Amino acid sequence: MNTVRDNEVDKLKHQSNIGRLDDVSIHSWYRFVYAYSDRVITGLADEFGITQDDLILDPFNGTGTTTLAAKKLGIDAIGTDTSPASVLSARTKTNWDVDLDEFRKRRKELLDTLEPIFSQIGSGENKTLGDFSSSEEENEISLEKYDFTEPKKTPKGWLSEKPLKKMKVMKYHIEEMPDNDVTDLFKLAMIAILPEDVGNVRFGPEATRDRKQEGDKDVLLYFEQKLRQMEDDLEKVQQTTNKDDVVVGDVEIIRGDARQIGDQLREESTLLNSEKHEGEIDYLITSPPYPAEHDYTRNQRLELIWLNAADDNKDLQKIKKANIRSHTKNIYVADNEGEQVNIRENEHVDEIASKMEQYIIDEDISHGFGNYYPRVVEEYFAGMQHHFEQVYDIMSPGGKAAYVVGDSGSYWQFEIPTAKILKELAEERVGFVNAEIKLWRNMAATTADYDDVKENILVLSKPE
Ligand SMILES: C[S@@+](CC[C@H](N)C(=O)[O-])C[C@H]1O[C@@H](n2cnc3c(N)ncnc32)[C@H](O)[C@@H]1O
Repeated sequence: MNTVRDNEVDKLKHQSNIGRLDDVSIHSWYRFVYAYSDRVITGLADEFGITQDDLILDPFNGTGTTTLAAKKLGIDAIGTDTSPASVLSARTKTNWDVDLDEFRKRRKELLDTLEPIFSQIGSGENKTLGDFSSSEEENEISLEKYDFTEPKKTPKGWLSEKPLKKMKVMKYHIEEMPDNDVTDLFKLAMIAILPEDVGNVRFGPEATRDRKQEGDKDVLLYFEQKLRQMEDDLEKVQQTTNKDDVVVGDVEIIRGDARQIGDQLREESTLLNSEKHEGEIDYLITSPPYPAEHDYTRNQRLELIWLNAADDNKDLQKIKKANIRSHTKNIYVADNEGEQVNIRENEHVDEIASKMEQYIIDEDISHGFGNYYPRVVEEYFAGMQHHFEQVYDIMSPGGKAAYVVGDSGSYWQFEIPTAKILKELAEERVGFVNAEIKLWRNMAATTADYDDVKENILVLSKPE
């Protein structure tokens, strides 16, 4: 880490990057409803005095906001997440050394292949026999090689018939490409348009079927637009970063469980173990899940299916089991992190879980997800304690960690002061010091379950 004076000079360096790389829209290549704004990162980078010598970690990196913002600021960063869709997103958004000529060549070939097939699918059932001239019939492309069945784990009604067929054709041809970074751009464009434009899905924030969107879609247009946006952005960043005085950060994206992140990064990370960073992260900026019934594997369901990561329940369970226990659909009989760390010895966790258990008895709740609310509370906080221990282990002395978390009132309106409990666990059980909770913003009501959720930033420091 730098001295205060060095920091001032280095801060100016990363600020000069901001203007130059600010007009690229890479964040929006693929987003999801739980993403935060990159202003969180630029704000905290200034407040903490993060420099281009430092290493940032986002252990719940999602679509990659932190790692992309860090790269733009010229700061090295590692991002991890359990979702293959998020890992692809973060990795693709931060890899700017892509061969654009190869990308353009492949794009042309792919669009030329898809265009006649899509128009055949699009017009397909609208045609009567009389509409076909004999020459048109001869020009028909055989669609035999494509499997048009709806993937098993597609929630009912999320894809209309024709868009489904088109997306399956697109998937087929993208899977024929070699496994490399140019292909990643096509894969990301494909999964991005699924929830944004192609599917009949609404996010509020939970994903639900939206009947108003049903019908055919101009899939080719959405796909083309997405690919064009990627090309424009990559052209801009490649031109900018070719200039001598622009430093961009190195980024590494790894699929992993934040509860074991220290051990995993020590083993696998090139950046952490580099000479520059000597096995230590300096800052952590992230927005972890909090107990609120958000099922990430449902909100990203179409993307995961199209990446072959959610073919059946076993696949889905694999992702859910790696996730922090923040909702009742990812609680398992064998879960016992709560017991392992005696989480009920924390007064607040015990009080909340006890109140819930009493409510279950009083209201005679014998089935349904409500039964699992106390277990979510226990397992969530225990999992986060394990995560804190792992972070502490790889953080440099004097390092800081910022967690953007919401308080939760989703569980029968029992308030769960997430940041406050996390602060206690981090200080009392792990060794972080000078913990502070700052109000980030008041989220507007998003579901009927909770009115007004406070989002806080919990800042933790490791002693010098
Ligand atoms: C609130 S989102 C993060 C959003 C991110 N800040 C962005 O801008 O896209 C939380 C993320 O944590 C991930 N996650 C949940 N449990 C995890 C775990 N145990 N380890 C790593 N990531 C996890 C989810 O897949 C999700 O992407």
